Amino acid sequence: MLLTRIFAAVQTPSSLKPAAVHRSFWSEARPGFALKPIMEPKLYRPPLEVRGMTSLDKEAFTQNITVPALRVPTRVLNKVVKSLKKSTIQRPGVPRVVQDKEESSDFRLVLLDPHKVSSPSSFSEAEAEALRSFSVAEELHYYELRLTYDNLKSEEVLEAVLPQGQDVTSAFSRVGHIAHMNLRDHQLPYRNLIGQVIMDKNPGVTCVVNKMNIIDSTYRNFKMEVLAGEENMVAKVKENGVTYEFDFSRVYWNPRLSTEHQRVVQLIKRGDAVFDVFAGVGPFAIPAARLGANVLANDLNPESYRWLQHNCKLNKVESKVRSFNLDGRAFIQGPLKQELPALLKGEASVHVVMNLPALALEFLDAFRGLLHQEPPCEENLPTVYCYGFSKDDDPDTDVVQRASRSLGFPLENRCSVHFVRNVAPNKDMMCVRFTLPKEVLFCSDDEHTEPSEEPAPKRQKCEESTHST
Ligand SMILES: C[S@@+](CC[C@H](N)C(=O)[O-])C[C@H]1O[C@@H](n2cnc3c(N)ncnc32)[C@H](O)[C@@H]1O
Repeated sequence: MLLTRIFAAVQTPSSLKPAAVHRSFWSEARPGFALKPIMEPKLYRPPLEVRGMTSLDKEAFTQNITVPALRVPTRVLNKVVKSLKKSTIQRPGVPRVVQDKEESSDFRLVLLDPHKVSSPSSFSEAEAEALRSFSVAEELHYYELRLTYDNLKSEEVLEAVLPQGQDVTSAFSRVGHIAHMNLRDHQLPYRNLIGQVIMDKNPGVTCVVNKMNIIDSTYRNFKMEVLAGEENMVAKVKENGVTYEFDFSRVYWNPRLSTEHQRVVQLIKRGDAVFDVFAGVGPFAIPAARLGANVLANDLNPESYRWLQHNCKLNKVESKVRSFNLDGRAFIQGPLKQELPALLKGEASVHVVMNLPALALEFLDAFRGLLHQEPPCEENLPTVYCYGFSKDDDPDTDVVQRASRSLGFPLENRCSVHFVRNVAPNKDMMCVRFTLPKEVLFCSDDEHTEPSEEPAPKRQKCEESTHST
C-alpha cells in the first residue's frame, strides 16, 4: 500500500543539504528514518548503479528520497501554496500537497524543493511574511518520496547512464511523431536506450531516429536508423497553419525553417507569380498558393515531387500550383523561361525562390541571357530570393560576391541580405534578395545556357553588355 508518513523535525539540521523528490510514496516501513533525514546533495539524482546501462531497466531508477515540507492548515492551503510557488516542488508527477501523518483533515503538507529550501531561513522575505500572515509555523518537516524512472527528466536519466564527463545531449528535432537525433560517436553504444528514453519522456513521439551520415548531397535528406518505436517514416506536420505529409526518410524537411518560410511568403500577394526552383514538399509554394498566388514548383527528387503534389491536394491548392520534377537549371530554362515574357508585361509581381543553400548561388548563371531573344524591358522584373551557406567572416559580403559572380553582374548595393540561421559553428545560412537585372536576363551571351563552373569569363561578357546598355 502506498502511503503516508510525515517525519516531523523540530529543528532543521544546519548541515542539511538540498535533496531530491519525486512521486509520492509514504514510507510507513522505515522506522527511525524520521529522525535522520537523508538529503541527497543533488536533486533527483538516480542511483549510481545505472551508469553504463545499455538496455533500459526502468526499475533500477527507483529510490526513496527525503524532501522538506511545511505543515499548513487546510483553511489557508491554497493561499500558502500560491505564496510559496518559488519554493514548492514543481515537477510533473510529483504532488505539491500531500496528507500529513495523522491524515488529519485540518492540515496538509506542502512539499518543498530541496534545491531551494534547506532551512527556514531559505524562504524569501515575501514568503516568510506570507507564512507569518497565515500563521504557518516555519518549521520544516520531512517527507519521504519514492522516485521512479517516470519522475525523471530525459537529461537526468541520460546523465546518470552515459559515461561521466562526456557530453550528454538529449536534443532532437521533432517532425510529427518522429524525434530526429544526431548522436555523437560516444553515445552510439547507448543509442537504443537513448531512443527509448526520448520516446518515453516526450508524449506524441512514437519513433526516434538517428541521422547516420551527413546530409545526402543531392536531395538533402538523411540516411537514418530507427532507435526506438515504430518504423513509420511518413510524418504529418503543421507549419504556419499549413499541413504537410511526407516520408521523412526520403525528402528534405527542416522544422527550423518555418520562420523563414513565413518571412518570404508574407512578401507574396494574391495574383503574384511564384517560381519555386527547389520546392521540396512545398513549404513556400503551398502557403503562397493559399494566399492566391499562381505557383510553379519544382524539385529534382521524385519523392519530393510526389509529396509536393500530395500536399497540394491535401491543402486544396492543386489548381494554383503546377509542379515539375526537373533539375533546377532545366526548370529555369524551361517552364520559367516560357512564362516570364508574358509576366514581365503584366502587373502581378514575380518571385523566384531558390532554397538549396549548398548550391543555389551557382544556379544563378541559368538566368544569364535567359530572354536574350526577347525585346529588353525594365518593367516587373522578378524578385529573386536565393539562399546560400557561408563560412566567411563576413557572410553578407561573401554571398553577394558569389551571387554576383554567378550572375555575371555586380549586385553590390542592389540587393538585401538576410541572415536566416546559424547551421553549424562558423556556418550561416543567408538569403540574398534582389531584382533580377535586365542586363542579366536580356544579355546576349552565347554561352548562357551552359552550366558554368568558372563563371568569371562569362561575367566579363555580361558586364560588357551591361555597360553598353
Ligand atoms: C534545402 S531543400 C529545400 C526544400 C524546401 N524549399 C524547403 O524550404 O524546405 C532543397 C531541395 O532541392 C532539391 N534539389 C536538390 N538538387 C536539386 C536540383 N539540382 N534541382 C532541383 N531540385 C533540387 C532537393 O530535393 C530538396 O528538396
